[in-house]
Amino acid sequence: MNTQKLPILPPDFDLETKTVLKHLAKANRALAELKGYVETIPNKHILINGIMINEAKDSSAIENIITTHDDLYKAISKTSEASHAAKEVVSYRTALWHGFQLVKERQLLTNNMIIEIQSIIESNKAGIRKLPGTVLRNDRTGETVYTPPVGEAEIISLLGNLEKYINEDNNEDIDPLIKMAVIHYQFESIHPFYDGNGRTGRIINVLYLILMDLLDSPILYLSGYINRNKSDYYRLLQEVRNINNWEDWISYILVGVEETAVKTLSLAKKINSEVATMSEEIKMRLPKIYSKELLELLFFEFYTKTIYIQQGLSVSRRTAVSYLSSLENEGFLISEKIGKERIYQNKSLYDLFRYEQ
Ligand SMILES: Nc1ncnc2c1ncn2[C@@H]1O[C@H](COP(=O)(O)OP(=O)(O)OP(=O)(O)O)[C@@H](O)[C@H]1O
Ligand SMILES: [Mg+2]
Repeated sequence: MNTQKLPILPPDFDLETKTVLKHLAKANRALAELKGYVETIPNKHILINGIMINEAKDSSAIENIITTHDDLYKAISKTSEASHAAKEVVSYRTALWHGFQLVKERQLLTNNMIIEIQSIIESNKAGIRKLPGTVLRNDRTGETVYTPPVGEAEIISLLGNLEKYINEDNNEDIDPLIKMAVIHYQFESIHPFYDGNGRTGRIINVLYLILMDLLDSPILYLSGYINRNKSDYYRLLQEVRNINNWEDWISYILVGVEETAVKTLSLAKKINSEVATMSEEIKMRLPKIYSKELLELLFFEFYTKTIYIQQGLSVSRRTAVSYLSSLENEGFLISEKIGKERIYQNKSLYDLFRYEQ
C-alpha cells in the first residue's frame, strides 16, 4: 500500500502522449457532434430530463430500470410508498440540476458548490470529513487499497488546489477532456466527504464539460460506462497512484466520453423521432385535444398526472381528466393508481429508455 501524500495539481508528467492524443481526437469529435445535434432539436428539455433521470439511476447504481422507474414515479410524486433507493435517485437528480444552474449562472465550479451538491445527494450537512477512519477497500477482498488524506485542514488545502486547477485558465494548454480525467482522479483521491464522493465526482465531470463549453446542456454521463467497466475503473485509479499510469487512466476516460457521446446521440435521435411520431399520431387521432404544450407535458417526466395537465394547460380538472383518459384509451399512456393519485406513464418514452440499457 502506498502511504505517500497525495501530490497537488498539475501532475508532474507529460499527459499528452501519443495514445492519449489519439483517443482525445475521437472523444472530442463525438462530443462536438452530440453538442451540435442537441442544440438544434426542438424540445431539448425532454431529452435532458430523460437522460438525467437515467443518469440518476445509473449513478446511484440501481440495476433494474423497470422496477426503478415504477418506484421513481412514486418518489417524484412524493407519495410515501417510494423506496429508499428511488428517493436517492431523486436527490441525485436534484443535486445535478442544482449544480448545472449554479455553473451556468456563475461560470465557475467552486468548492462551495461541490459541498452543496454533496449535501443534496446525501440529504445531510456533514460536509468535509473531520474524523479519521475513512479507507477505500477492495469490494471483494475487503482489503484496504487506499487511505485518503486525513484531517480537515489537509483536505481543505487539497480542495483549494483542485478548485484552482478547475477554474484557472492555465497556460499549459491541456485539453479540457484530459483535465476532466485529472480532476476526477484527484477529487476521488482527496475523497473529501464521508460518503457520496463517487456520485459527487461524476456530477463534477458533467459540470466541468459545461464550464468549458464542451456542452451547453447536461447530457453526457459516464456512470453507465463506469458501471460496465467497473473493475478497470478502480484498478486504473489505483495505478495512477501506484505507478503513475496516467496514460491508461486518461485513455479510459476518453474512451468513455467517446462511447457515451455516440450512445447519447443515438438516444437523442430516437427520442426526437418518438416525439415527432407521437405528435403526428395525437394530431391525427385526437385532433381536438392536441397542442404542443400537451405533448411537452406528456414527455416531461416519463409520467404525468391530472394536476400537471390542469396547471400546464390552464384547464379545469374535468377537462384534464378527460384528456388523460382519451390518451389512455388511444394507447399513448398507461395509468396506475398510486396512493390516492393516478399516474399516467408515457409508454413509448419509457420503452425507449428501458431497451436502451
Ligand atoms: N483506489 C481508489 N482511489 C481513488 N478513488 C477511489 C478508489 N476506489 C474507489 N474510489 C472512488 O470512491 C468512490 C466511492 O466513494 P463513496 O462511497 O464516498 O461514493 P458513493 O457515491 O457513495 O459511491 P459509488 O461511487 O460507489 O456510487 C468510487 O466511485 C470511486 O470514484
Ligand atoms: Mg458510498
